[in-house]
Amino acid sequence: MDYINKLEKVSVLGAAGKMGSGILLLTAVEMADQALKSENKDKSFTLNAIDVSNDALGGLMRYLKVQVQKLAEKKMVALRGMYADRNDLIENGEIIDQYVLDVMTYVRPTTALEAAYNSTLVFEAVSENKDLKNKLLSQIDKNSSNKPWFLTNTSSVPIHELEKGADLKGRIVGFHFYNPPAVQKLVELIVTDATAADLKDFAMTYAKNLRKIIVPSNDFAGFIGNGHFMRDALHGIHTVEKLAKENSFVEAVYMVNKVSQDYLVRPMGIFQLIDYVGVDVVKFIMNVMNPYLKDEDLHSDLLDKYFELGVKGGQFSSGAQKDGFLKYEKGRVSGIYDPDKKDYVAVADIQEACDKKLGDLPKSCVAWKSIIGKKDRSKEFTALFGDLKNMDTLGAKLAMEYGARSNAIGKKLVADNVAHSEADVNTVMLTGFFHAYGPINEYFV
Ligand SMILES: NC(=O)c1ccc[n+]([C@@H]2O[C@H](COP(=O)([O-])OP(=O)(O)OC[C@H]3O[C@@H](n4cnc5c(N)ncnc54)[C@H](O)[C@@H]3O)[C@@H](O)[C@H]2O)c1
Repeated sequence: MDYINKLEKVSVLGAAGKMGSGILLLTAVEMADQALKSENKDKSFTLNAIDVSNDALGGLMRYLKVQVQKLAEKKMVALRGMYADRNDLIENGEIIDQYVLDVMTYVRPTTALEAAYNSTLVFEAVSENKDLKNKLLSQIDKNSSNKPWFLTNTSSVPIHELEKGADLKGRIVGFHFYNPPAVQKLVELIVTDATAADLKDFAMTYAKNLRKIIVPSNDFAGFIGNGHFMRDALHGIHTVEKLAKENSFVEAVYMVNKVSQDYLVRPMGIFQLIDYVGVDVVKFIMNVMNPYLKDEDLHSDLLDKYFELGVKGGQFSSGAQKDGFLKYEKGRVSGIYDPDKKDYVAVADIQEACDKKLGDLPKSCVAWKSIIGKKDRSKEFTALFGDLKNMDTLGAKLAMEYGARSNAIGKKLVADNVAHSEADVNTVMLTGFFHAYGPINEYFV
């Protein structure tokens, strides 16, 4: 495998999307960094940014420039080394401008899929639709004489289905970045039975150069991350449905969201996470995964209902959350959607009564923000979950059930051969979802 040769002609499909734009940024920067090495001076690099809308591509190029500029400011020392032979570049600002220019020269925004026919490497990050992905990959492959390699970012479609659907015979891997790709360290790497060893080597080198943490996942719908998240979300939804028999629906959502955040010491509650990813996206991923599952039904009528009501969550381009199950004001949760009223109920109106029903948090409780920077957190978690185990409050009971379910989901991912090991499951949840402890632990048994 010649890494540089493969990196010379690249296309990103869905380049203006959330994931595509990040993949484009990372790849453009990697190209520039490689091109600036003396041994690669004779190489020429092209990076096609392919998407369906010209407007979106215009916005993408503006986004890219700003991001490269920020990145350049952060790696000034390295850039001085890379431009050591350029006596004309003296001030930091001159080096940064040159680097931005160098990165941007590789990127060719286009709505023409034909641009990819000449590529040796194609990153696929179009919408999560198996038929669309198959159609695009197959069209590129049929019209290319390069036998290109494909790296798909699909969240849920088994890679062998795309391999078969587009007749790629070992020339595809799942390279599952997390959102946003430029920030998140984790990538799940999924090979099929046929994936070429050279392609796997390329994927490993590319990930290493991007300083990503690679976790291999076997080729099962949803892989490790969504395999855990979708079931964990469904547990939250089922708990709401149970609690709503004795409480109002919005109270039930508030309580489960609070337990899954404050009691379990996670960065956000489960309904905030569903909103962050998108109610529609979660529903869609479950729909893709469900037909592949033998002994469970990964489906929620509640998600269908929210989707039909147009309550979808998601994010603005700034990264701020859009309203979904919860309403967000200045980054804080201020309301909860009541599907009967088709409006948000203010958290302030229900908070006190709900907190009373949940009961007090134990004194050993720690905030996620205050513990995530610590290296060894086991003492704090042993104390907290030990206390919760011995408490008789509703909050403690829900938290212990939630933690035990998360643990069982993690173990099943190993038993079902989705993950190679318990450590891999924990790494995915620790790095991809920023959990403060892995789901497979001794705290909830
Ligand atoms: N958003 C996440 O959190 C996340 C995380 C990991 C993986 N993924 C996966 O990444 C992929 C992209 O997701 P996203 O969230 O970036 O979606 P998105 O909707 O933000 O982006 C998809 C992009 O694909 C473009 N597109 C649609 N049809 C196209 C076509 N025919 N040709 C070229 N471009 C086309 C759209 O215009 C859009 O810009 C999906 O497979 C998704 O499952 C998403």
